Amino acid sequence: NTQWKLKQHGRIPRNNTIALVVLDGWGENKPDQYNCIHVAETPTMDKLKEGAPEKWRLIKAHGTAVGLPSEDDMGNSEVGHNALGAGRIFAQGAKLVDIALASGKIYDGEGFKYIKESFETGTLHLIGLLSDGGVHSRLDQLQLLLKGASERGAKRIRVHILTDGRDVLDGSSVGFVETLEKDLSDLRAKGIDAQIASGGGRMYVTMDRYENDWNVVKRGWDAQVLGEAPHKFRNAVEAVKKLREDPKISDQYIPPFVIVDENDKAVGPIVDGDAVVTFNFRADRMVMLAKALEYEDFDKFDRVRFPKIRYAGMLEYDGELKLPSHYLVSPPEIDRTSGEYLVHNGVRTFACSETVKFGHVTFFWNGNRSGYFNQELEEYVEIPSDVGITFNVQPKMKAIEIAERAKKAILSRKFHQIRVNIPNSDMVGHTGDIEATVVACKAADEAVKMIIDAIEQVGGIYVITADHGNAEEMVKRNKSGEPALGKDGKIQVLTSHTLQPVPIAIGGPGLPNDVRLRSDLPGAGLANVAATVINLHGYEAPADYEPSLIEVYDA
Ligand code: 3PG
Ligand code: CO
Repeated sequence: NTQWKLKQHGRIPRNNTIALVVLDGWGENKPDQYNCIHVAETPTMDKLKEGAPEKWRLIKAHGTAVGLPSEDDMGNSEVGHNALGAGRIFAQGAKLVDIALASGKIYDGEGFKYIKESFETGTLHLIGLLSDGGVHSRLDQLQLLLKGASERGAKRIRVHILTDGRDVLDGSSVGFVETLEKDLSDLRAKGIDAQIASGGGRMYVTMDRYENDWNVVKRGWDAQVLGEAPHKFRNAVEAVKKLREDPKISDQYIPPFVIVDENDKAVGPIVDGDAVVTFNFRADRMVMLAKALEYEDFDKFDRVRFPKIRYAGMLEYDGELKLPSHYLVSPPEIDRTSGEYLVHNGVRTFACSETVKFGHVTFFWNGNRSGYFNQELEEYVEIPSDVGITFNVQPKMKAIEIAERAKKAILSRKFHQIRVNIPNSDMVGHTGDIEATVVACKAADEAVKMIIDAIEQVGGIYVITADHGNAEEMVKRNKSGEPALGKDGKIQVLTSHTLQPVPIAIGGPGLPNDVRLRSDLPGAGLANVAATVINLHGYEAPADYEPSLIEVYDA
């Protein structure tokens, strides 16, 4: 029985208008030509930094501070927004799967028992992202699952791979496919009929999110379920190598292919009686496929065939939709989020981003839960993202539109919290296009300015922060910190997130004069932001939240 009522804060008044801005993929790093945030004109963020230490500081956004297995794990938007919204650190999917695999508990769970029913007569299909990025999935977990399933009766296994190049270096997919092929051939030596059946690049095949473009999921469906694709190969390593010969094709965008036998027949379409596991632990880019695999009623694209399968996710991907209904590992129980508390205390909330990040400030923010807590008090606005392009060609994305919409919400005075995600530095950073990323960072800075200006007009407070690093480091470094060179002698562009800390800045006319950021809490991270924001709304944070970053001092 949760006590939702929050105690009033002794020193900070209620009913302020608070703009809470999350710059996606905006970390702090030393000035350098590969730090796009440094290279870009960012007068607004530069000015905020001058407020250090009382109005600006750094917080951790990677590793154990956000519930990831180790300090080598870079931050990501799922764990970042979970921590920002929930105010506590939860062991995240990556870690929970590690634990379940290490203890073997994964095989005793309901999900595995359910799919195991098909092992005698059907094929086990494994679909997911093939890399060691640790953001959506991990290769070593797939390897353990392959071993565990084959030891427990899976006789025929088909793997449907999605190549990465976004959480790991572009070009690394060939190596991952080779590793997987080696494992599968070891299984074959043991008499198990195990093969890769299909593949494609994650941004072009299957892993769309927030229903931005169902064609992406359809391309995957055609290859994985129907066994149909524009490209056919006998071998997946050859497929990836060959398709990458086109200079326009990177790992993220490899077109769909199927593996065929000597008669040109697809080796692994999904048919009645089969079992399917989507082995990504992260939710956002698996929800759409999960719907296609599970929902009887489905009108997003023509599935042609809807096989009767036993399907389980690595995790439950949506706690509200209970999707999928079977899963191998229970997700973190992210309860009592700040959003839910604030709504119970009458705080009116507006949340907005463009499609590709919309779920970050709603679904992830609310603990991987879709929908509203109380629609009378909340409004979530999604600005449609451009579809079918890579964002380096449109680096301004919808930053200004998001800021306009936030400004309107602020000036309407209808809301106490206006929460937005500005995607540019992350989405363009992931393309590895350094020039475009500089443009992206400038656009994000302009959006922040618009929001701060609106806050000035209504006498409110702003909190500007980020979910993890990306655009501040666009090159892979060698041990001495110099840009690492690839085999071709060129620098290795870093498309992924980073281990860098992120800034948090507070200010605005509504911020009481005697409120400042604490200079202790050296280990503070994203999870400390929720209590901070609850305080700024005029309430004490729940006792088990990570401590607030602010203090009231005697001026
Ligand atoms: C993606 O899904 O685009 C990347 O793997 C991670 O990016 P995000 O965590 O910023 O969404
Ligand atoms: Co990202």
